[in-house]
Amino acid sequence: MAASPISSAAEWKALEEHVGAIKQTQLRELLKDDARTEAMVVEADGVYLDFSRQNATPDTIKLLLELADAAGVEDKVKALFSGQHINATEDRAVLHPALRAPRDAVFEDGGKNVVPEVWEVLDKIKAFSERVRSGEWVGETGKPLTNVVAVGIGGSALGPLFVHTALSMQPEAMGQAEGRQLTFLANVDPVDAVRALHALDPATTLAVIVSKTFTTAETMLNARTVRAWLTERLGQGAVAKHMIAVSTNLKAVEAFGIDPQNAFGFWDWVGGRFSVSSAVGMLPLSLHYSFPVMERFLQGMHTMDCHYRSAPLARNLPALMGLLNVWNTTFLGHSTTAILPYQQALQHFAPHIQQLSMESNGKGVALDGTPLPFETGEVDFGEPGTNGQHSFYQLIHQGRTLPAEFIAVARSQQDVYLQGEKVSSHEELMCNFFAQPDALACGKDAAALRAEGVPEHLVPHKAFTGNRPSLSLLLPELTAHTLGQLLALYEHRVATSGFVWGINSFDQWGVELGKVLANQVRSKVQEARAEGRPVTQADGFNGSTVRLLNRFLAV
Ligand code: F6P
Repeated sequence: MAASPISSAAEWKALEEHVGAIKQTQLRELLKDDARTEAMVVEADGVYLDFSRQNATPDTIKLLLELADAAGVEDKVKALFSGQHINATEDRAVLHPALRAPRDAVFEDGGKNVVPEVWEVLDKIKAFSERVRSGEWVGETGKPLTNVVAVGIGGSALGPLFVHTALSMQPEAMGQAEGRQLTFLANVDPVDAVRALHALDPATTLAVIVSKTFTTAETMLNARTVRAWLTERLGQGAVAKHMIAVSTNLKAVEAFGIDPQNAFGFWDWVGGRFSVSSAVGMLPLSLHYSFPVMERFLQGMHTMDCHYRSAPLARNLPALMGLLNVWNTTFLGHSTTAILPYQQALQHFAPHIQQLSMESNGKGVALDGTPLPFETGEVDFGEPGTNGQHSFYQLIHQGRTLPAEFIAVARSQQDVYLQGEKVSSHEELMCNFFAQPDALACGKDAAALRAEGVPEHLVPHKAFTGNRPSLSLLLPELTAHTLGQLLALYEHRVATSGFVWGINSFDQWGVELGKVLANQVRSKVQEARAEGRPVTQADGFNGSTVRLLNRFLAV
């Protein structure tokens, strides 16, 4: 018999009833209560979270914590860390925290400690990256391999790209990457392949093919393109020295022609979007920034894992963020969340969170397969501040209400000097980070505008209703370590929301149908081209697709 969805629990109903009370509140008033603010700030390992600008009171938090209890969140966190097969539809454990655990830690899958295997791969990455970086491993022409092109898509690209961008201006990482280039090739669009390869010299390029399954159509096509680009210029022998792989499917890696010695494995208990701390991210990023830098990234992730695993939910950063996410989306009905890092280095953070969150939590059924009577997941989007302010902030201030997550770093990775004087750009950035949440929360009313002498006909246009929710995250600095903390924080925030909703956040069946249909289109378009005929409805397409395909074929 199907288990009742969490929405039938008394704790859920209590929150539904509480919505009415919260709708009577105004953030500009709530923020006058300092005891409330005090209760809505939590700090762990240097990561400071202020959620006092949520449409919420300490009562809301209490009710959310009761809901977490009813949903068994603490037990689910334990199940994750103890290797239970919580990805039930694929019968897999979800053990990404094991990827950044110290050597002496124990994480079991089916009674077997996986940590020694994790470290076997990490040691291999360390040794290999050192050989390449020192120039001991050279390419076909004897030149050192200073450039890496990482070929992969989705979870096999977005996280590593985000980390790469975040570290590219961090002084220590930057020093380690001097004279080296790291490029990502994801899209099957030929323009992306040309963009990625046109400035590279094959003689100095190492291609890392990253694919959990080693069957993803886009990645395999791009891998063949890169192989041809290398062998046409350097000869067939180039593959052995210029192509390596990261995958769980080592047979397919070998069948492709890459020596299994040059393959770096991971495991089915690592979901693609949770794989940044596996060889997926660690190999290309260690080649570029060195293993010691990336080891600090793993250590940062591990500190957040420990916090998530052990802190009581009321003081647990990822758990609180996950619960507030449920509050905003399911109870208050805000289906979109803005991820707003006031840090240019985090420019690829929102695209990574899009996949992490939307592929994990965009589900329609409970764990047991019964349709859910409420919607799960949220649309995540974002752009670094202050750029975003000059783009879409108009809508979030005066148009739709959507929860915003402001992220900033107290000390800048870089400073700018003019005639020997430090320019206050970081201070300027931070002022905006502090001002925007208050503008959203407190707004500006007609009386204030009139007091400023604003003409009457402009008063309604210039008024800000306020009462728009946000939270603020402040990190001391952006290093490999704090970046790891930030990433693990979001991984666990996503898991927590999924635990409350009672869904499987670790499968992704929703991406399959499009792939199957693309295969059908490919075979029919090839057939029609070969036979010199138009596509028809007899090929299995509806009238709309037939017309569109024939328009394409005619160009
Ligand atoms: O698009 C779906 C997906 O399966 C993602 O979950 C995954 O990260 C991506 O494709 C790439 O898959 P792979 O690493 O197997 O190439």
